Amino acid sequence: MNISKIKKTEILSNNEIGIDRASTIIKSGGLVAIPTETVYGLCADATNPDAINLIYQTKGRPPINPLIIHVFDNKSVFDIAHKNKIAEDLSSKFWPGPLTMVLKKKINNKPSITKNAISGLKTIALRIPAHPVFRKILKKCNLPIAAPSANLSGKLTTTRFEDVLSNFSGKIDAIIDGGPCPIGLESTIIYIHEKNISILRPGKITEDDLLNNDFSITKKSKAKKIISPGQLNSHYCPKTPLRLNAKMPNLNELLLSFGPLPKGIVGISLSEVSDINEAAMNLYSSLADLDELAIIENKKTIAIHPIPNKGIGVAINERLLRAAYKSSNKF
Ligand code: TXA
Ligand code: MG
Repeated sequence: MNISKIKKTEILSNNEIGIDRASTIIKSGGLVAIPTETVYGLCADATNPDAINLIYQTKGRPPINPLIIHVFDNKSVFDIAHKNKIAEDLSSKFWPGPLTMVLKKKINNKPSITKNAISGLKTIALRIPAHPVFRKILKKCNLPIAAPSANLSGKLTTTRFEDVLSNFSGKIDAIIDGGPCPIGLESTIIYIHEKNISILRPGKITEDDLLNNDFSITKKSKAKKIISPGQLNSHYCPKTPLRLNAKMPNLNELLLSFGPLPKGIVGISLSEVSDINEAAMNLYSSLADLDELAIIENKKTIAIHPIPNKGIGVAINERLLRAAYKSSNKF
């Protein structure tokens, strides 16, 4: 398959026929965008080096940035990575679900994950997703599936079918229309070392959720040689510059509000009722809509209300800081 050629991207339904077709394409080395409970993923067979190359090329992702490998169950996780007590405890509590664990990879992992999927590292990021469509495809394929978020590298993550379509139509083999992703932000990523875990990327599963277990937590990774662009300054960027922690928009700005949109102001509300989980679910899709609205309304910037730094709000603020990084250099 050659990505320089325009492909006919199949639109698949969220049903048995769609799931069958998506599984066939993945097994034969193609790329399919599939909904997960967090965000849409750009999926390929994690044992096929050519298919993995296609992911990197299509996203414009640097090859030093490893992918998350998705598997069906705990047995598959520990066929690939070494067991440890903390990982076992957390797996029974949070999987299937929006948690990714970076674990030490077994040398003779089975099935064999191709080196380029994990950038040649000795660690591997693993997740058992909860979304029923993704789970059926994992079961049907009977393969580990590599799935980065379905967006161009550094740009806005996609959580709606329409946004995946506008990013990848003509570039990948198929997209499953599975509606909006219920959580709306990428999984929490943790790295486990001895009796300590580091949160590499915050998400729906918070530090407090993890704290109920028997170990210490550091927010900043002590791990050497771990590359996580979630830790890069600029990431998740819309086209329009952002201004964070704004009370009201200026004349040339749109507003992304937390709570109802004030009368007479042009913008979008993340949650009319100030619900932090609803705000997370709407974050990326609202920014995509505001990019369009900025052109129509001839506005230059998106002003964003302060977001409470509680629960999944920590992850929202982390994403917003990175999304605003380039903009903040301009102010
Ligand atoms: O919710 C999610 O996690 C979504 C869905 C599709 O599952 N996937 C996702 O993948 O967000 P991606 O590629 O956009 O983000 C994966 C992050 C990257 O920041 C990558 O650097 C990090 O995981 N990562 C992968 N392997 C790693 C490793 N061995 N050590 C540290 N970070 C790793
Ligand atoms: Mg991503």
